[in-house]
Amino acid sequence: MPALNAPRAHWASRFGFILAAAGSAIGLGNIWKFPYITGQNGGGAFVLVYLACIFLVGLPIMMAEFLIGRHGQRDAVGSFAALEGKGSPWCLVGWGGVLASFILLSFYSVVAGWSFDYIFKALTGGLSGRSPDEINALFGQLVGSAGQVIFWQALFVAGTVAIVIGGIRGGIERWSKILMPVLFLLLLLLFVRGMLSPGARAGLEFMFRPDFHKLTPAALLDALGHAFFTLSLGAGTMITYGSYLDRDADLFSLSLRITLLDTVVALLAGLAIFPVVFAAGLEPGAGPGLVFQTIPIVFSGLPFGSLLATVFFILLAFAALSSSISMLEVVVAYLIDEKRWPRLLATLLVGAAAFLVGIPSALSFNRWAEVTPLFGKNFFDLCDLLVSSYMLPLGGLMVAIYAGWFWKGAEEKAELVGPTRRPWLFPLWHFLLRFVAPAAVLIVLLNQIGILTG
Ligand code: PHE
Repeated sequence: MPALNAPRAHWASRFGFILAAAGSAIGLGNIWKFPYITGQNGGGAFVLVYLACIFLVGLPIMMAEFLIGRHGQRDAVGSFAALEGKGSPWCLVGWGGVLASFILLSFYSVVAGWSFDYIFKALTGGLSGRSPDEINALFGQLVGSAGQVIFWQALFVAGTVAIVIGGIRGGIERWSKILMPVLFLLLLLLFVRGMLSPGARAGLEFMFRPDFHKLTPAALLDALGHAFFTLSLGAGTMITYGSYLDRDADLFSLSLRITLLDTVVALLAGLAIFPVVFAAGLEPGAGPGLVFQTIPIVFSGLPFGSLLATVFFILLAFAALSSSISMLEVVVAYLIDEKRWPRLLATLLVGAAAFLVGIPSALSFNRWAEVTPLFGKNFFDLCDLLVSSYMLPLGGLMVAIYAGWFWKGAEEKAELVGPTRRPWLFPLWHFLLRFVAPAAVLIVLLNQIGILTG
């Protein structure tokens, strides 16, 4: 039995849990990153590989993370300790997750802060009546200003802290229930708008007609890395959220729904953005500025454009918030469960630390743009590379190996299949976890460090 030293908060409802976990999964990864890396990797073929990674690798690992957390009933490190004993080397996997979440929070807040600035721009009419070139230039002006970027980053971290202080039910669950449905509706609207635009056909072709010549080894790594990123895997997040679940939750159907929601939102975002890219003659491979440069263009030609743009950037900020709270919660839960810190203190201190550690990432777009400590990459890109390409896949790999090979099979089976009758579920899950997921991650990681391609 798990060590239950203190009464532990649990989600108030299944629905609340789904929205909170989907809220963690759905974030900048879907609306900001997915479209731009799809653009950089040439579209269709990349999307196909990404979908395969999501369902064959991501989904089984998400189930394993929920399982570990629910069984352990503690934070990411403590859950492994509850399963394998304190001091077990598996606790390192939990530690890796805590560290990854912390670094992630530090640079995620920088980009999330940009959406705050765009809310402000849209509200004050700064985006309306401008040409695409002018809108492009606005993005450059924002990220070029160290003061502005840091100001918004600070505000975003403060918002994250404010929610996490409220705890599981009163903070995270309550907010997710409001934010996620509105986000979904608005994306739907943008999608319809994209489909009605003259670039719709080109956008659809770009996303769904695979051209396998464009698939480089780096694209495979991006696709797999992004599958972990977008599902919040390998960062201790789903272990931590799973630890607030009770015993009879049906983990398969919960995970499937969360994964589907995440995928639909990413595809909707792509289908909203690419038609505009093509209609306005922009570059699909424009990089991190893509969403900030295209969405204002869509709205600038619409009635109530400023209002809609305001709503969009508010939602982008909220999607980012419902993800950043999950990163902060991983570290805070660790300090509460393992170190007995009060929630308030833990949240404030970790938030402040993440803000400070994020400053070099904020400066990477302006004053320190030329500072490239390693591999010719600036600080922001290095953090992103470290976390998205290495730490998350590696963390996910270890979870798969642990749950697939080391956890006592019978116990795990009983917990996974639970009261439902799905005889195919356990063998299929186990197979994916034991063979498919580790092979995929290993191939990609070895490739990345140049062992396979030399
Ligand atoms: N899934 C989030 C997104 O897509 C990012 C994230 C990664 C959150 C890992 C928590 C842990 O934006």
